[in-house]
Amino acid sequence: MTTNIILLGPPGAGKGTQARKLEEGRGLMQLSTGDMLRAARTSGTEMGQRVAEVMDRGELVTDEIVIGLIREKLAEGGNGFIFDGFPRTLAQADALGALLDETGMTLDSVIEMRVDDEALVRRITGRFTCGNCGEVYHDDTKPTAKPGICDVCGSDDLKRRADDNEDSLKTRLLEYYKKTSPLIGYYYAKDKLAPVDGLAEIDEVARQISAVLDGK
Ligand code: AP5
Repeated sequence: MTTNIILLGPPGAGKGTQARKLEEGRGLMQLSTGDMLRAARTSGTEMGQRVAEVMDRGELVTDEIVIGLIREKLAEGGNGFIFDGFPRTLAQADALGALLDETGMTLDSVIEMRVDDEALVRRITGRFTCGNCGEVYHDDTKPTAKPGICDVCGSDDLKRRADDNEDSLKTRLLEYYKKTSPLIGYYYAKDKLAPVDGLAEIDEVARQISAVLDGK
């Protein structure tokens, strides 16, 4: 049986961090529309250029583009998916429901990661990521063991994101509250919503998510 879950939360809530843990622990596939769009922006195409400008401002890319990206990945099949950063609008949520129906899959849970805005600013401004394997770090809460070297793959390609600055973050938060937070009510009404304390330590958040998935 496959498991399909959504990680729902504002920028910096810890969606990517927890998605990677779930991939390792449960063999699910992380589908991060943010990562897919970051790959598209380096493609050198006109679409990639448009995507880069929108992302750097902190605004949402069009529903059409992200739904197309998810449709392609779902068609590849798998053991189950962790939707990270998707859906982000009601139109995307409706489209995901239709895509899952078409492929005979069901949505098991929507994990709502609750974090306050102050913590988000600290998390985003301290974040860096391995350009080789994608591991996510933080200057204070999750530094690398050896400065400048990824713990997981040993690469020295550690990067900060272009949209992790205060101006873009303000726009990203506004976009979240205007367009994405209505999904909390949407999935509550569908009896799929499971809140977890995103302010807890990384391993404790993972434990709470596991408890939801294991029905405890
Ligand atoms: P995206 O890449 O999805 O970014 P986001 O939603 O802003 O989320 P983040 O990646 O910033 O945060 P996260 O929740 O994954 O946190 P993380 O685990 O890294 O989207 C980027 C852009 O792409 C959007 O602005 C938009 O333009 C576009 N886009 C993407 N999807 C789209 C869609 N569906 N529709 C339209 N446009 C779309 O953690 C953050 C930091 O905190 C890290 O340093 C981590 O180490 C640390 N941390 C994590 N958990 C904890 C914890 N429990 N305690 C302490 N520190 C922690």
